[in-house]
Amino acid sequence: MAAQYVLRSACLLLLLTFLTSATKVDYGYVPVGDNPRLYDEVLEPIVQLDEDTFADTVYNSDTAYFIEYYADWCGYCRRFAPHFSKFAEAVRLWAPIMKVAVINCADSYNKGVCKDNNITMYPTNKYFPRGSTGAKDGIEVEDLDNHPETMLDDIANQVKEDYMRGRHADWPNFEWLGKTGTYGELWTGVPDTVQHYAVLFDESENGNNSMK
Ligand SMILES: *[C@@H]1O[C@H](CO)[C@@H](O)[C@H](O)[C@H]1NC(C)=O
Ligand SMILES: *[C@@H]1O[C@H](CO)[C@@H](O)[C@H](O)[C@H]1NC(C)=O
Repeated sequence: MAAQYVLRSACLLLLLTFLTSATKVDYGYVPVGDNPRLYDEVLEPIVQLDEDTFADTVYNSDTAYFIEYYADWCGYCRRFAPHFSKFAEAVRLWAPIMKVAVINCADSYNKGVCKDNNITMYPTNKYFPRGSTGAKDGIEVEDLDNHPETMLDDIANQVKEDYMRGRHADWPNFEWLGKTGTYGELWTGVPDTVQHYAVLFDESENGNNSMK
C-alpha cells in the first residue's frame, strides 16, 4: 500500500515536472497541430512554433526573433513562403543574434497564442527584440516585399535599432564611428578578446560615412 502510494506520488511529480518544464525549441522541431505546414523543419533554417513552445522560445531569449504568422490556406502566404525561405537562408548565420520563426495560425491548436498576438491578417510579420517578455513587445513589420533582399534590409534595420536600444555587449557593434584620423585609431576601444573586426563604409544620413 505504502509502496503503491510512493509510486503514485512519483508519477504525479513526474507528470507535473513534464507539464511545467520550459519547452524552448530550435530548428528541426516538428510543431503540434493537424494542418499542413508551409515550411519544412529539415530543409529550412526556420524555427516552427506552436501553442506549447511559442512563449518559452521567444520570450526572455538571448536572441531576437523574426516571426511570420501564416495561415496554410492563405494564397498570399503560399506565394510568400518561397521568398521567406530564401530570406531565412540568407540570414542563417545571424542565428546567434536573430532567428527566423513561423507559426501556423490556421491550426486551431495555436488559437491562443495567435489571439494573444492580435493576429487578424495573414501573413503578419513581427520582430521580437532580444529579451522580449511578452506578445506586447512584438514590433509589426508591415509591407514586407516579396524580395529577399529588401526583406533583408528591413530586418537588418530592426536588428540595428534593437542594438541601439539594448547595446548588447555580445552583439556586433553597430555604432557609427566618430572622427577617425588613422587606421590605428579604428581599433580604439576594441577589447583584446576580439579576433575579427569589420568596419563597414556606408553613407549615413548625417554625413558620417563609416559604421563598425
Ligand atoms: C491587442 O489588442 C488589444 C486591443 O486593441 C491591445 O490592448 C493589446 O495591447 C494588443 N496586444 C498586442 C500583443 O498587440
Ligand atoms: C558624425 O557623428 C558624430 C558622432 O556620432 C556626430 O557628433 C557628428 O555630428 C556627426 N557628423 C555630422 C556631419 O553630422
